[in-house]
Amino acid sequence: MENFATVLAICRTAMRSPNPTLIRNIGKLCDALAKQGHGDQAESLSLVLATKKATDSLAPTRVVLAAASVERMTRSVQAPVDKESGAPLASVVFPGEGEKGLEPILDAPLSKAIEALVAEWQSAAMLIKAGIRPPLNLLLYGAPGTGKTALAKVIAEQMELPLVTARLDGLISSFLGTTARNIANLFEFANRYDCILLLDEFDAVAKVRDDPHELGEIKRVVNTLLQCLDDRRERGFTIAITNHEHLLDAAIWRRFDSRVEIPRPGAQSRVRMVARFLSGVPVEEVDIDFLAWLTDGRSGAEIETLCNSIKRYLVMNGTGRKSLLDALRVNALLSADHSDSPRQAIFADDSEKLARRLSSDEEIRFTQESLARLFNTTQSTISRWTRK
Ligand SMILES: Nc1ncnc2c1ncn2[C@@H]1O[C@H](COP(=O)(O)OP(=O)(O)OP(=O)(O)O)[C@@H](O)[C@H]1O
Ligand SMILES: [Mg+2]
Repeated sequence: MENFATVLAICRTAMRSPNPTLIRNIGKLCDALAKQGHGDQAESLSLVLATKKATDSLAPTRVVLAAASVERMTRSVQAPVDKESGAPLASVVFPGEGEKGLEPILDAPLSKAIEALVAEWQSAAMLIKAGIRPPLNLLLYGAPGTGKTALAKVIAEQMELPLVTARLDGLISSFLGTTARNIANLFEFANRYDCILLLDEFDAVAKVRDDPHELGEIKRVVNTLLQCLDDRRERGFTIAITNHEHLLDAAIWRRFDSRVEIPRPGAQSRVRMVARFLSGVPVEEVDIDFLAWLTDGRSGAEIETLCNSIKRYLVMNGTGRKSLLDALRVNALLSADHSDSPRQAIFADDSEKLARRLSSDEEIRFTQESLARLFNTTQSTISRWTRK
């Protein structure tokens, strides 16, 4: 049908305040399109009706956070499945069931902002009762391995709510229209229970709608997603995560009240990370500071990988003063990942240059005494090196 996109937009807007005649007429249009062989268009329209029906069946009230209509999730609850493949659309982790010690280390201002957001979420029911609508959705974005998924898990723990994580393998189907239907089913499931819905790797389903290779399917998926996000906005908590925020559809981006970038860690966070990842290994403070200095620009996951490799080396070769630098040199040879980083290059250069660079660092303070321990030499040698 010509101008179908416009018709669909009108139907969607009209369905925000539906009445029986409207629903009957959209149903008729749907049947007519299907009969004329416009299966795709019929399905898009039926999704508009289906999402509304799901909403109605759940709603005695819009303020559902504190309402009896939202069920408490029990362990016997089954996540919905893809009708064709039977693959689950989500996995559920209950509070207390996740891995321990996951709390990501974030730079101080960011950590405070997240704390404030969680406090708001914890008081959401009270705020809603007082007529204030707190933002219930959060978009986390940033480089890979910066702790976004770990943060979502910690938020769910702090909220003491089950975490319903969308499973892309179940959600995305090669059958036309099925991905959109799966998304609607997933949201319907999440809306029924008191839980946090986590949409990790969100760009896989929320990308810009003008990709010429997607043959209309992504449009259908994103349109459904927009509708589902709108419906859920005041119903329950949603966290979406992406490494590719520039790929997100602009309308999806705007749907999120809180959009938080999780950046690569600053110097003080790196010091805390190295201390955590090397706990149990007898290293000195200056070693931790040095590793934090060296890992400028790396993600938490990369720092963890480096620390694990150092741990292995130290366990196998002893923890003498020389060993840490040796361990780092071996790691540099075994992993080409950061060979082009300027700090790695200084490290690979001679000790004198490195000592000079460290002694003038503005973020992490290295005293002559600590440098003497790091390089296993005397303070007067360090003093000579750094005077040059
Ligand atoms: N900020 C951090 N603090 C402490 N540990 C971290 C941090 N960032 C990453 N890690 C470590 O790296 C692991 C992987 O992090 P996570 O999977 O949460 O990153 P991500 O941002 O979701 O990555 P991706 O974008 O690749 O999915 C964590 O389990 C943790 O061990
Ligand atoms: Mg992740």
